Amino acid sequence: MVYRRRNGPRDPILGLNEQFNADPNPAKVNLGVGVYFDDNGKLPLLACVRAAEHAMMEAPTARGYLPIDGIAAYDAAVKGLVFGADSEPVKSGRVATVQAIGGTGGLKVGADFLKHLNPNAKVLISDPSWENHRALFTNAGFLVETYPYYDAAKRGVNFEGMLAALNAAAAGTIVVLHACCHNPTGYDITAAQWDQVVAAVKARGLTAFLDMAYQGFGHGIREDGAAIGKFVAAGLSFFVSTSFSKSFSLYGERVGALSVLCENKEEADRVLSQLKIVIRTNYSNPPIHGGAVVAAVLGNPELRALWEKELGEMRVRIKQMRNLLVEKLKAAGVKQDMSFITSQIGMFSYSGLSKDQMVRLRNEFGVYGTDTGRMCVAALNSKNIDYVCASIAKVI
Ligand code: LMR
Repeated sequence: MVYRRRNGPRDPILGLNEQFNADPNPAKVNLGVGVYFDDNGKLPLLACVRAAEHAMMEAPTARGYLPIDGIAAYDAAVKGLVFGADSEPVKSGRVATVQAIGGTGGLKVGADFLKHLNPNAKVLISDPSWENHRALFTNAGFLVETYPYYDAAKRGVNFEGMLAALNAAAAGTIVVLHACCHNPTGYDITAAQWDQVVAAVKARGLTAFLDMAYQGFGHGIREDGAAIGKFVAAGLSFFVSTSFSKSFSLYGERVGALSVLCENKEEADRVLSQLKIVIRTNYSNPPIHGGAVVAAVLGNPELRALWEKELGEMRVRIKQMRNLLVEKLKAAGVKQDMSFITSQIGMFSYSGLSKDQMVRLRNEFGVYGTDTGRMCVAALNSKNIDYVCASIAKVI
């Protein structure tokens, strides 16, 4: 084979890591990818993870193949987190959950399954959305369009536009929604607005696909899963992808899941059998380690409490960084009101900076964010924040 095509473009998020790693600037700061670093700029290894790994090393086991759908205890723990362990959907057995290779893997397994189920459906993603959503659903064979989301003038959500687009969508359209901590804008819709979204999804016969990559980074584990409860209460069937990359700081282990809420157990069994075919024909079955760690933590009351504490500390530190960012931008001489940063939630801030300003930040100061103006607030710390603010002040 002779390959004649040009180089593909760099990934808009992970490609920045490559550029960052090659940058010799000693003051460089990576606010590009969505990764949480502690106040010393270190990627945390959570104590709950360390404890679970320690116990695993004390009792080493051989590594056979996992079932195609992953570790049973892991899948059960995911169902509990997403729907509530004592919830009706879990108790009645009408959730089909599979372990997946990260949240991205959960999305892809779901997308491939949906392509078999409803090959002519269109996919709607938010404008803007996580950079990989469009590519992922396009590569799964779908036509991908957007629904309005971000209102730059208002610095918030264009909810009327979003709702109008959902109400105009054809039956069967797949709507990708960010369950919490919208990526990239950091603006979530309110509980009352979720009610309206759920009603529109139901009235129009749309298929909701909730991407939940940041559960616990907004207001709390249960609070961030509230939208799921609304879809359940409306009697809808829907998809949820889960990621533990951020909430367990297990990025490189690729621990995620896909859950499909079905009408009854019999349907869930049939859906599960189809999801297993998608997995088997892609990568056969998932790896053990990350899933085993998460299952061990979530299945042990003490470790689970420790995890919730550690996750809460990450959440609180991010909020502190948001407040400090607003304060220090002002102190650095930025005249415009940047207080909108504290009304955003989760790991990201949509800064409102233009592509040119973001490129200048990168090239002149070694401060990396995405071209769309997204900055990862979770990578700020008490040592780099002054430099970041001074750099932003120079390009604004
Ligand atoms: C991000 O948006 O930066 C993260 O979700 C990491 C990724 O895979 O893009």
